[in-house]
Amino acid sequence: MVKVGLIGLGTVGLGVARLLSERREMLARRLGRQLVLKRAAEIDPERRSKAPLAPGQLTARDKDILEDPDIDIVVELIGGTDVARDLVLSAISRGKHVVTANKALLALHGNEILAAAAQKGVEVAFEAAVCGGVPLILALRQGLAANRIQEMLGILNGTCNYILTQMSQSGMSYDQALAEAQAQGFAEADPTLDLEGIDTAHKLAILVSLAYATPLNLDPIAVSGISNLDPLDLQLAWEFGYAMKLLAITRNDGSLIEARVHPTLIPKDHMLANVSGAFNAVYLTGDAVGPILLYGQGAGMMPTASAVVSDLLDLARNLTRGANRRVPPLGSETALETPRVIKPLDEVVTNYYIRFAALDRPGVLSQISGILGNHNISIAAVIQKGREVKGAVPIVMITHEAKEANARQALREIDLLPVVSPPAVFYRIEDPHLHAAQI
Ligand code: HSE
Repeated sequence: MVKVGLIGLGTVGLGVARLLSERREMLARRLGRQLVLKRAAEIDPERRSKAPLAPGQLTARDKDILEDPDIDIVVELIGGTDVARDLVLSAISRGKHVVTANKALLALHGNEILAAAAQKGVEVAFEAAVCGGVPLILALRQGLAANRIQEMLGILNGTCNYILTQMSQSGMSYDQALAEAQAQGFAEADPTLDLEGIDTAHKLAILVSLAYATPLNLDPIAVSGISNLDPLDLQLAWEFGYAMKLLAITRNDGSLIEARVHPTLIPKDHMLANVSGAFNAVYLTGDAVGPILLYGQGAGMMPTASAVVSDLLDLARNLTRGANRRVPPLGSETALETPRVIKPLDEVVTNYYIRFAALDRPGVLSQISGILGNHNISIAAVIQKGREVKGAVPIVMITHEAKEANARQALREIDLLPVVSPPAVFYRIEDPHLHAAQI
């Protein structure tokens, strides 16, 4: 029998308790022995009362789980980073294996936790931390182990994808769409983490470590979210043939790694453009396998519980066979010792959508394009929308590939032109056709 202690009976915790109790026999058949939820700790009595567990299985105190020598695996589902870190390190120091869905914890304290686990010879599993029920971590740790990952483009936050989908397809306002996402329960307790792209960055930090066998490092990931988005840009981008998605992007250029999170324009016919609502997807390319798309529900009770229970089975199997850490948490025995350098955002080369509010006068376009030209930025397409409203008219340009530092400097100079109302708005584009057009 493998005994599990669960800490945190929020949405996901309840889902895990349900799966472990309702599918006990099925899981036992798959594992060849019983996988038993011995105890669950939750301080909130109302949450405890909702759990499908006997009174003897419930406690308000984490230490009843951490200090129980009978418990083999501790599942951390309380979220947050401070108490969760202490809990996880305490479980590891007692020789217990850990399953967590906590992406923020891993992004901020993952190296410390993984080093402690390695030293103690225990497992840390986190399938549920990225893309919820989609077995993406498994794919990166094992299924794609023969590949060099060339790039990954991910929709990793259901809340943001839901908001962007509703704004562009149903004409809903940002506030309405956010309220709906919160009502449906996929937003974080603090939705700022979702909206400012931070939750996506936490997840990207984990993916970068797995893909490139490097320690977790959130700091160099450039992040911008969707909270300042103007619906006008969704509409204009659509007219240029682009959908707007909050993407996590990582790419290996051989010596450096790109890792960034920002609203991004992708061609309407890109597979990720059709990932709607709260769904997540990762489009990645391995040098042997070619492109792969993983798609599914990245949040919510049962999809996330599905991933947690798959980790429990995996760890229980290793325990059964005496094969702990058969596959290391980051998929590489050396990941924590081989840091890779993340390319500064200023050095990134990509295409841009730029929108200026400018006077509708002869010569305005040439002033703008002159400055772009001075910074080596060439224009692929341009439109001016309608006549002046309140003294300005939107001009949208799509550029060929340019270096981020050059684009930013050009925009600073354009914003100083008397014929322009600053600030110019810009979004990065991921469009292989545009790259090809320039060659
Ligand atoms: N807040 C997250 C999301 C939950 O919206 O995707 C899953 O990590």
